[in-house]
Amino acid sequence: MTMGDDVSIRVAAADDWDAIHRLLSMAFHDVAEDEMRQVEGSVYEPERGLVATNGSAVVGHAAAYTRELTVPGAILPAAHVTLVSVAPTHRRRGILSRMIRRQLDDIAAGGREPIAVLWASEGRIYPRYGYGLAAQRLTLSAKTRELALPGSPRDKSELRLVDPGQAVGELTKLYEQLRAERVGWSSRDDRWWRFVLADNATLRRGATELHGVVHDGPDGPTGYATWRTKGGWDDTGPTGRVQVHEVVAADPETYASLWRFLFGIDLARTLHATYLPVDDPLTHLVTEPRQLGTKLQDGLWIRIVDLPGALAARRYAAEVDVVLDVTDGHFEANTGRWRLTGGPDGAACVPSGDPADLACTSVELGAAYLGGTSLASLAAAGRVRELTPGALNRASLAFGWHRMPAPLQIF
Ligand SMILES: CC(C)(COP(=O)(O)OP(=O)(O)OC[C@H]1O[C@@H](n2cnc3c(N)ncnc32)[C@H](O)[C@@H]1OP(=O)(O)O)[C@@H](O)C(=O)NCCC(=O)NCCS
Repeated sequence: MTMGDDVSIRVAAADDWDAIHRLLSMAFHDVAEDEMRQVEGSVYEPERGLVATNGSAVVGHAAAYTRELTVPGAILPAAHVTLVSVAPTHRRRGILSRMIRRQLDDIAAGGREPIAVLWASEGRIYPRYGYGLAAQRLTLSAKTRELALPGSPRDKSELRLVDPGQAVGELTKLYEQLRAERVGWSSRDDRWWRFVLADNATLRRGATELHGVVHDGPDGPTGYATWRTKGGWDDTGPTGRVQVHEVVAADPETYASLWRFLFGIDLARTLHATYLPVDDPLTHLVTEPRQLGTKLQDGLWIRIVDLPGALAARRYAAEVDVVLDVTDGHFEANTGRWRLTGGPDGAACVPSGDPADLACTSVELGAAYLGGTSLASLAAAGRVRELTPGALNRASLAFGWHRMPAPLQIF
């Protein structure tokens, strides 16, 4: 008998949180301390947590948050999978697999969430459970004095410094105004806003408290930015860095103004941002895009849970009528041939006996779901098969979207 056989899995209780947090801190190489335990505990939903126990010890954990995700043309309930870890003494015995499969079954049984979404600590962990890479992101490591943005750096009259916590009402209003259009954004209730704006020594990592600025237009706020700075000096002078947290703008003037402000902060020489969409307009705003120091990273991973429900719930960029031959390694109900018809105004997805036009697994459909990964690109990687000539290009265009998904906040 292996030790893994002694491990059982049950739903978490509120008083498991301390043990769960210790386990997570160890797995992620963080110091287990009270402030972060409280911040993370404030959004924890024990009834959606699964703990693996060995005797009285918590040796594994996985959970989900109940939030909505913006997808092309719709806002959907999506299980936000998170807080996944297995004790170093119990790794590689299938505990993660047991937890994730149970979690997927629970999500499906709930009947409310056609998809699940997560951020992966390592990209190789989740495809085996059906998750596909749906949104990549850009990170910036820019040299602020090597590039410029159009407009006068002296014109800051429309910007107002705020304490982000105090201005949360204005930030929330802007976010809600824009949310339906921003594929990749997750809903934020009051608890989530407190989480997003949380500020303590651990989160600062040696930088300042979280600063904020609101951009005012004639009819009220049109955008905000939050950031931290970290000062520094060397023999040539100041070397400070600006660590951008979020930049949210309702129009192009506001967007340019907020970035001009961030790039112009005195005594700073570098600017870092980690959660920008791949098609971020900043690339087209600055005089020297190479100096943004962009890198591509993975962002959101999507798992299609209820295939017909998920495919019918989003909108498509162009009219589509395609029969998909889908294999799902976990949900038998998703496996089979499906006819997807739809376009910009809505879609339907029903079982089909017709010959298939495209064949793939639900991993590829998860990857393509937000319009950020093209079916044609997946086909070029050998992961989607075209069975009817011409079907791939048509379906690939339809699954796309006019903007790339924006993975704004890690959770
Ligand atoms: C990732 C983690 C939860 C995996 O737990 P685990 O119980 O060891 O995973 P399992 O034993 O169920 O692994 C299932 C399969 O995935 C593979 N696998 C799991 N984690 C892996 C990793 N990090 N790298 C490569 N392969 C991995 C296993 O080798 C196994 O493959 P096999 O079926 O071919 O043998 C654990 O390593 C951990 O806690 N890591 C640190 C925290 C972390 O990264 N959490 C994920 C947050 S998104």
